[in-house]
Amino acid sequence: MITWALLAVLVATALLYSRWRHSYWSSRGVPTAPGSIPFFGHTLKLLSRSKHRWLAVDELYRNHGGSMYCGQYEMHSPSLLIGDPDLVKAVLIKDFDHFTDRRTFKASNPKDKIINEMLTVTTGEHWKGIRSVLSTSFTSGRMKGMFPLIEAKAQGLVDYFHRQRKQDPVVRMKHSFGMYTMEVISSCAFGVETNSFGDDSIFAQKAKELFSVKPLRLMKLMFFLIFPKLAKLLNIQLTHENMAFFADVVMETLKQRKAGAKRGDFLDLMLEAREDQDQSTGKKKPKYPLSDDTIIASSVLFIIAGYDTTANTLGNASFLLAKHTQEQELLREELRKAIAEHGSLTYQAIMEAKYLDGCVSESLRIYPPAHITERACTKPYVLPGTDLLIPKGQMVSVPIWSLHHDQKYWPDPEKFDPTRFFPENKDRIVSGTYLPFGLGPRNCLAMRFALMEAKLALARTVLEFELRCAPGHEELELSLAPGIMRPKEDVFVTLTPIAKE
Ligand code: HEM
Repeated sequence: MITWALLAVLVATALLYSRWRHSYWSSRGVPTAPGSIPFFGHTLKLLSRSKHRWLAVDELYRNHGGSMYCGQYEMHSPSLLIGDPDLVKAVLIKDFDHFTDRRTFKASNPKDKIINEMLTVTTGEHWKGIRSVLSTSFTSGRMKGMFPLIEAKAQGLVDYFHRQRKQDPVVRMKHSFGMYTMEVISSCAFGVETNSFGDDSIFAQKAKELFSVKPLRLMKLMFFLIFPKLAKLLNIQLTHENMAFFADVVMETLKQRKAGAKRGDFLDLMLEAREDQDQSTGKKKPKYPLSDDTIIASSVLFIIAGYDTTANTLGNASFLLAKHTQEQELLREELRKAIAEHGSLTYQAIMEAKYLDGCVSESLRIYPPAHITERACTKPYVLPGTDLLIPKGQMVSVPIWSLHHDQKYWPDPEKFDPTRFFPENKDRIVSGTYLPFGLGPRNCLAMRFALMEAKLALARTVLEFELRCAPGHEELELSLAPGIMRPKEDVFVTLTPIAKE
């Protein structure tokens, strides 16, 4: 009897404690997302597969104060969603020194040393040091230098489409663009020429395995994010078993490069940056040296951050063009004119094509692969225009998808209209409402590279084929799986070759 009474008291005390923790936002007068459950807060709701994650967030944005700001709970930890463009710019750009980090975890297992060197998870001065060195590899001059490597891959893609449509005119576009982006990354970040269109190389197989979300891996990651201290204590390892394969590929290529072979890819650029670092610091060791581990980590990160994001962007853009045939024809006309003017699809022709830019930008607005981004508060901060103090360690998230679909900022937001991004219309875009690559000093490192890669592949595809939605695939169904926004199965498009004059 006494035991039951004691248990009841314990449970009641725990529930009261949880309720007290979950009163953090209401006690500060901040609108709070509904549906918080004791101990778990909104965590289970955000992980639920019953609704697309961006639509769940959009409900907070539209109905619970999120278009300004609203509070949520990850287990017992309060986090803030900010949807007001001025607040978004304050956090991501103006007051970046209070928000230099993302959600991070420092894995303690020695096998995770490569993961800890990845730019996405590094923090503070360490991040700044690596980012400033890596940034030198992504300038427009560097992109122009890398263009021929990517051109060869775009040719491989078009050849593949021709072969594939002979077997079946309905082509899986996301899958095909995935082969292209894998080819581009293996060539540009690893110096590996796999030429594996249609037939996965070992490299492509190993890389794709990095993306297979196995339940155990997902649970490990969730455990790390929710209980970082305990995960450290238990020495849990996060590194995927394939990491050793990529480390070997990079080390082997680095050896060859040191022997003099150069091809203008990211590995060359990172080695150059390291030489510059050594020269500028003389005999002194640079504070954040571009070590072999950092170079390996960056190369692997380029696959993780760049393969699926760019392939989905291309898949989604091909769906939108297949559905909007008039816009597809306008794009084709622009590209033909560009070829007449430049002789071929040169780097300059691609960069100057404004309808092409509009099509890619509009695809990224409608379907931003990264539909949300986050920052961790690194220095206490008072949210501008309020007296709300964000303490160090609190997470702040930005609902990219909601901002891209808000009628307040985008008239007729579901309409595919590439002219929104014409230079003469750009001043109508409210700053802080378009951020497919994030914003501020911690935005996508490779935005220029990704845009060049996507524009070239889309341009070559549209010049070579008529695109139409395959029968029964007139709408794009998106996956409910966690992670970035991607199609449920694939993007099915009928390709018909365009007769050459
Ligand atoms: C269309 C394709 C892509 C999209 C939509 C995209 C989007 C993003 C977004 C939203 C972020 C977070 C930015 C923020 O928090 O403000 C990000 C970060 C990043 N992306 Fe991309 N990305 C793309 C392609 C790529 C490619 C091709 C690479 C590498 C070759 C890459 C490398 C990175 C890296 C390294 C970061 C972390 C930057 C840092 O923490 O300093 N991304 N990307």
